[in-house]
Amino acid sequence: MAVEMKDIVELAKARWFVFQWSEIYGWLANTWDYGPYGSILKENIKNAWIKNFVQERTDMVLLDAAIFMNPQTWVTSGHVWWFSDPLTDCKKCKTRHRADKLIEDRSINSQNPLSEEFTSWLAKFIKDNTKNIDIQKKAIEINKNKWSETDMKIANEYLEYAELIEKNKDNKNTVVHLFMNKSIPCPDCWAKDWTEIRNFNLMFETFQWVIKNEGDLIYLRPETAQWIFVNFANALRTSRKKVPFGIAQVGKAFRNEITPGNFIFRTREFEQMEIEFFCEPGTDLAWHAKWKEDCMNFLTDTIWLNKESLRFRDHSVDELSHYSNATTDIEFKYPFGWWELQWVADRTDFDLKAHMTESKQDLSYFDTVNNKKYIPYVIEPSIGLTRLVLATLLSAYDKVETEEGSRIVLRIKPSLAPIKIAILPIVKKLWDEAMKIFKTLSKTWNCEYDETGNVGKRYFRFDEIGTPYCLVVDDATVNNSTVTVRDRDTGLQDVVKVAELEEYFRKKLC
Ligand code: GAP
Repeated sequence: MAVEMKDIVELAKARWFVFQWSEIYGWLANTWDYGPYGSILKENIKNAWIKNFVQERTDMVLLDAAIFMNPQTWVTSGHVWWFSDPLTDCKKCKTRHRADKLIEDRSINSQNPLSEEFTSWLAKFIKDNTKNIDIQKKAIEINKNKWSETDMKIANEYLEYAELIEKNKDNKNTVVHLFMNKSIPCPDCWAKDWTEIRNFNLMFETFQWVIKNEGDLIYLRPETAQWIFVNFANALRTSRKKVPFGIAQVGKAFRNEITPGNFIFRTREFEQMEIEFFCEPGTDLAWHAKWKEDCMNFLTDTIWLNKESLRFRDHSVDELSHYSNATTDIEFKYPFGWWELQWVADRTDFDLKAHMTESKQDLSYFDTVNNKKYIPYVIEPSIGLTRLVLATLLSAYDKVETEEGSRIVLRIKPSLAPIKIAILPIVKKLWDEAMKIFKTLSKTWNCEYDETGNVGKRYFRFDEIGTPYCLVVDDATVNNSTVTVRDRDTGLQDVVKVAELEEYFRKKLC
């Protein structure tokens, strides 16, 4: 049975992975806190990423920069001008929405189900808007036998919409507004009465000093990447690396999303794991292809995401940003559809050049071997850590049917599991023996001691949080110095000498 979002949200709350702590004050909408197991899972994923992309490579360095930067950074990067979403309010029920998402949802949630090909075409079309009406016309023609009548009806409706906008290029928001008042009902009250669309900047603003004034305006960073560009020359000097090399960073980012949602998929405060990989112009496309593969392998082999839930989506030429030579989304199949989990973009020398022009500082690179100077091109693999936690939970979630009903087993990769070994004395009076084992093993692995309830129920509790091994302390521990270790995934049990436990788990949890 396919996993649904409500399964994950329920489990995350019941088992202390992710939930909302500010409950006593009525919560803060769309703000999620990571509990005891969630925070360790997130930390383990982050450390696996750092190990894979920094520790095990010779061409990468890691840094942890401040969240606040000189605000000029965000002017030069363009975020102050273009980092916005189209916002509209329902005049009747006063709810606030993202216009492009409303349009998308209206089609996807239509009463007559739409085919997958059509839905993915539509998602791209809306993003593209009117850039390529002729290409879209062709797509409709080619697919007319594949798509349902409803698909075709909506496809033509969008074409009409796109043509309308094309004719009124200078007044796009007004045209979208007209279209919405004709075709898009409010999902909350079904009225079709929208305010004019405004562009809403997603950057959170704050002030440096106690007294507010314009000069002190600073931003919470909307991505971790810009620091790396601004400090490229410093990082190059202090790391003593030579191009090709990369800088990695993990940290919080903030976006005032108009429609956060789907649990931790889209939030206003989240964590990113980003790499800016600098290479010689002309070698960028080969590096882009290599980074795509490396990122996909990390997701399948290190994080154990289901292979069939992942796919590459290369941006078409029309969809590419003006500065990009190639961009690929790695999409994950969430219960609400295929959406971006990671992107890998070839950003050329766009960012370094922009910061160089504005700051008047030299951000170029001198290649001493070939005696030439150039502005490096950049490959940017960027993934949301918190979004990856969601994908990990979705991939690991398994419902096992038993005679007593169904139960949950979280099949997280053992090295990522928040608790690696549960130590379970069969009776409370074996506390001394169990504690000795806990104290030894917890020096290396996260262990949990649990003496409450029958052992079967304790097994199931630890299965739900993904603990790969349960270790039972019983009479045999007292009499023969052995324990029984149960494997989460096979249910098989090994009898292991207490003195050999560390070696046993070292082999299992490497
Ligand atoms: N520096 C490039 C950049 O920030 P992006 O596609 O906007 O690119 C990269 O973001 C990744 O960050 C996304 O693939 C996604 O995993 C994550 N992400 C972006 N916005 C997010 C949000 N509001 N909530 C959670 N994760 C988000």
